[in-house]
Amino acid sequence: MTPLAEALARRIRRQGPITVAEFMAAALSDPVHGYYRARDAIGASADFVTAPEISQMFGELIGLWCAETWRQLGRPDPCLLVELGPGRGTLIADALRAAARLAGFVEACHLHLVEASPVLRRQQAAVGLPVAPDWHDSLDTVPEGPTIAIANEFFDALPVRQFQKSAAGWHERLVGWDDAAGRLAWMLSPPSDGLATALAGVAPDAPAGSVVEVSPAAVAIARDLAGRLRAAGGAALIVDYGYARAPLRETLQAVRRHERADPLSDPGEVDLTAHVDFAGLADIARHEGIGVLGPVSQASLLTAFGIDTRADQLKRAATPAQAAAVDAAKARLTGADAMGHLFKALLYWHGPQGGAPVFPPS
Ligand SMILES: C[S@@+](CC[C@H](N)C(=O)[O-])C[C@H]1O[C@@H](n2cnc3c(N)ncnc32)[C@H](O)[C@@H]1O
Repeated sequence: MTPLAEALARRIRRQGPITVAEFMAAALSDPVHGYYRARDAIGASADFVTAPEISQMFGELIGLWCAETWRQLGRPDPCLLVELGPGRGTLIADALRAAARLAGFVEACHLHLVEASPVLRRQQAAVGLPVAPDWHDSLDTVPEGPTIAIANEFFDALPVRQFQKSAAGWHERLVGWDDAAGRLAWMLSPPSDGLATALAGVAPDAPAGSVVEVSPAAVAIARDLAGRLRAAGGAALIVDYGYARAPLRETLQAVRRHERADPLSDPGEVDLTAHVDFAGLADIARHEGIGVLGPVSQASLLTAFGIDTRADQLKRAATPAQAAAVDAAKARLTGADAMGHLFKALLYWHGPQGGAPVFPPS
């Protein structure tokens, strides 16, 4: 058992089964044993690879988009450039290098990195950014003002609660302790009328066996982002894997060394994620009174942002092996059987009359 599994077993024996969100929060962010606390999990030799680690093109295109968005917003100075979950800092480094092509943008930027992991903060500090960042544990402490925010594979790391329907009604899925097996185990709360009422609007015709996932943390952060944009103007680009309509099945998954793992087996030592509910994020923007575009596929996003042109530019100065690597990276980022369709992008936007962000049609 991992040290965190032992701590969770003690907690569950003391206070009873915990929600899936409580389990995820502990597994990812426990101050001592949480997955993100002690390791750099990102990269070919680690647990998973993200788009900016596949190719510089990803961050560069997002950087050019940031600069153009700043122009569309009327060149606010200062402008808060906020990244949620910057990982190794690769995306923001590539983005700022490319965005420097628009005079004045980098100088106007105040960079705020929302990062829970001390290990990743050290990597972000070492990546050589042209603007000194301020780090934050959460969005709460980021100042207000005109904002351009980016979040790549951030929302999937936020804890979800799971609700499961049976012939008897709706239950909450819980993590308990199986004494006989000596391990953490899935359990269900008793069915409840309160849950049935709460879920009636979300999944009115769900058959028995359906699972609905809800991320209170994602909802709170999305509301905060939308409120900031409504108050002072700006844009937020959210890129992640997820669904445009709730699939009524569980999407929680564990990954270690690029392979699927059992979510309960080694808490703190495997990455846990859940697919992002893009329809829910879009509803929040509408409810908060700001504009929302998408979701669109990552393939559409990167094509609209100019990945073909950028790949051609890189290949012009490349050896044959480097050119093949550029093509392979582009295929991985945009291919329908790779990241192109599963990954999606959503844009929150609140800009001046006449301003229009670059974003492909849905
Ligand atoms: C899957 S990684 C993505 C990293 C990066 N955006 C990329 O594309 O390579 C998730 C990032 O979000 C951070 N993170 C996860 N949960 C967080 C939370 N609740 N608050 C702040 N940062 C968090 C992680 O430490 C990590 O930097």
